[in-house]
Amino acid sequence: MNSLSHHGSDEHPENHDPGHYFDALAAQWDSPERVARAQALARVMGPHLPADTQIIIDFGCGSGIVGRSLGVRDVIGVEVSEKMREVAASHGVRVYERLDEVPICQVDAIVSSMVLHHVDDVAATLRELVSRVRPLGSVVVADLDAGQEFFHAHMARTDASSPAASDTPDPTAHVFHHGFDRDFFASCLEDAGLVDVRVVDGYTGVKEGSEGEPARQYSVFVASGVKPQ
Ligand SMILES: C[S@@+](CC[C@H](N)C(=O)[O-])C[C@H]1O[C@@H](n2cnc3c(N)ncnc32)[C@H](O)[C@@H]1O
Repeated sequence: MNSLSHHGSDEHPENHDPGHYFDALAAQWDSPERVARAQALARVMGPHLPADTQIIIDFGCGSGIVGRSLGVRDVIGVEVSEKMREVAASHGVRVYERLDEVPICQVDAIVSSMVLHHVDDVAATLRELVSRVRPLGSVVVADLDAGQEFFHAHMARTDASSPAASDTPDPTAHVFHHGFDRDFFASCLEDAGLVDVRVVDGYTGVKEGSEGEPARQYSVFVASGVKPQ
């Protein structure tokens, strides 16, 4: 099973597919809050792309809102959720289910926003992303800072092998990490073969509380690195 597109138990694949969970959210994904977050992140991520960037992959593109906000000529989406792919395509994004289906060998940059906390083997995924970037191209990732369990309090963590595992009730949700320590994530990018690794503040938003919990502030970092010549 391709770790970039599906995760979890072979016994109940329908319960362990992030695409299944995000299918239900696709039509309403581009809420004013998420559009504001995507545009703010794109402003931070943009300067980490090579100056002559023409073509990028937005990995886990959802509706494509982050990639589309970067002002790049050509955005290719990779997205496991069929319904999200339909939304992204309706905005003109060429979108594929898996990275290995993208017909272009190497692109100028790969961006990914709020996706890798849904991915089990982050190291393997980063290595695969790096392999699809040209020399002197960049990988730019936005994701939650560590320790923000409250962000997914409304979702289940059903995979017992996951660091974020719990027995909360919704079996369709899929969260492997409740964010990442910035130094740890920087070392992951270096281990994947990138240089000039940087991690900066990306976005601060407010997450509405579920089940009577108060709203809380959450933070997102932007991490980037360059593929050596
Ligand atoms: C929290 S949403 C973020 C969407 C978009 N990047 C944004 O910032 O608005 C995470 C997205 O990643 C997708 N996803 C999760 N794991 C994936 C994988 N292994 N390959 C491709 N897409 C994945 C989900 O289906 C979902 O649409």
